[in-house]
Amino acid sequence: MIEINSRCVHDAPEKRTTKPHQLPIYATSSFEFDSIQQGMAVFSGQEEGHIYGRFGNPTIDSVAEKITSLETHGLHIPAKGILVSSGMGAISTLVLSVLKSGDKILTQGNIYGGTSALFKGFIAKFGIETINGDLKNPEQLEAMLKKDASIRMIYFETPANPTLACLDIQMITGLARQYNCYAAIDNTFCTPYLQQPFQFGVDFIVHSTTKYLNGHGNSISGIIIGKDVELMQTKVYPGMKLNGTNSNAWDAWLINNGIKTLALRMERHSENALQIAQFLDKHTNVERVNYTGLPSHPDHHLANRQMRRHGGMLSFEMTGGLEAGKTFMNKLQFCTLAPTLGDVDTLILHPASMSHISVPKDIREAYGITDGLVRISVGIEDVRDIIRDLEQALN
Ligand SMILES: Cc1ncc(COP(=O)(O)O)c(C=O)c1O
Repeated sequence: MIEINSRCVHDAPEKRTTKPHQLPIYATSSFEFDSIQQGMAVFSGQEEGHIYGRFGNPTIDSVAEKITSLETHGLHIPAKGILVSSGMGAISTLVLSVLKSGDKILTQGNIYGGTSALFKGFIAKFGIETINGDLKNPEQLEAMLKKDASIRMIYFETPANPTLACLDIQMITGLARQYNCYAAIDNTFCTPYLQQPFQFGVDFIVHSTTKYLNGHGNSISGIIIGKDVELMQTKVYPGMKLNGTNSNAWDAWLINNGIKTLALRMERHSENALQIAQFLDKHTNVERVNYTGLPSHPDHHLANRQMRRHGGMLSFEMTGGLEAGKTFMNKLQFCTLAPTLGDVDTLILHPASMSHISVPKDIREAYGITDGLVRISVGIEDVRDIIRDLEQALN
């Protein structure tokens, strides 16, 4: 028998013989070994096991495996996923793990603003330069790759903020392979339920799981998935461990819970968004609607080829510019003004007065972010409530 004060310190011995029905939250920073032999086997990689929370734990790894299985569903390809601290953590860990000083990233101007800032303001300090090109244009893309062998990664999003412009994943990955560079895609807007970029040959997929994968706006995390398992194990995994960009059990558990309804949610987000896009398209105070589900969207056919449905993101252009945009936002009663996306409730953003307030007008307009542009992350509520609110705020 040990003393009472030691009893306080030590956990009761594990006697459980049944498996928990739900994924447990492993709130532990390290794992213990039965013997020195076992410790040596796990440390040396001969035996599978957990060592220290920064390297992964059963909750975190289970969620990484689940998202990886969704991204590879039906494709019969191997892949490895690593759950990390945030979407930004996923992008920075990937880039710093697989690129080196002197390498270049080729991307375009309409990716998530945080990613542009990361590439230009932070990754650049490590000697990895980012250049912009028109990734829609295969001739220009090929000319850039041919001219500059130091381009080692093409990084892109499709559909992209805020105009929902799409890129041809197969065309980009084909050229990337031909010119010996990686193709990396941010699949946050679609989730693997709507779009599986591995099907079109990409090397890496990143997500901000903070958005649709979690779906309830209550966790921050990200994931990196690569189909070269050895590269993931020898470069990206050590990059995550050494940078300390690991996720944590609580956020992982919340994502796991969210994913259980991913298919249902994405169907409903898509259904609601289509009805809202059709409503806005007919409204006299709306100049233009950007939704790939509308046949009038320039990338409607490309999106049909790459996506199962058209998702929950749309934007529209109000007549009346900045003032009209601000008045509209203040009149909303049901929808919420918030700078995130992918939650179960409808979230609205006016980029010119919110996310892009500090970006000079000419620069934001070059990427379609005009004064009257409003972005909606359509929720899964009853669509009649969303439309009623939009209607009263528009009129
Ligand atoms: C498309 C996209 N990628 C990445 C990120 C960054 O994700 P996080 O906020 O989880 O770091 C965001 C955030 O809004 C995003 O919209």
